[in-house]
Amino acid sequence: MKRLVPLTVCLIAALLVVGCSAGTDGASLMKSKCGSCHAIDWITDASADTRADWEGTVARMETKGLVVTDEERATILEYLNAEYGAE
Ligand code: HEC
Repeated sequence: MKRLVPLTVCLIAALLVVGCSAGTDGASLMKSKCGSCHAIDWITDASADTRADWEGTVARMETKGLVVTDEERATILEYLNAEYGAE
């Protein structure tokens, strides 16, 4: 029974590491999804965009080959608007 405790702790730690490295927060999702075709500078320099502009930009990127789930798109838009939005 005593050996179960460290085992459980290891399991939880492993799950946390996997969960974090998967990068589901806005910043790392944006870097991994948007940085594959062009520099992140292209995005971070476009600082005067409204949320509608960002939606248009991301939709345009999808026509170029960006692949995101609805959830990922929402997370990225949230992040872009908060960090690089005009409002
Ligand atoms: C499949 C490749 C690809 C991916 C993935 C991609 N882009 Fe782009 N992006 C392009 C290309 C090609 C251009 C240049 C042509 C253009 O602007 O239409 C560009 C240009 C841009 C520009 C500068 C032009 C403008 O109109 O402001 C921004 C900003 C941008 N991308 C944002 C993003 C964001 C945000 C993501 C992630 C959600 C992303 N891109 C993912 C291919 C991609």
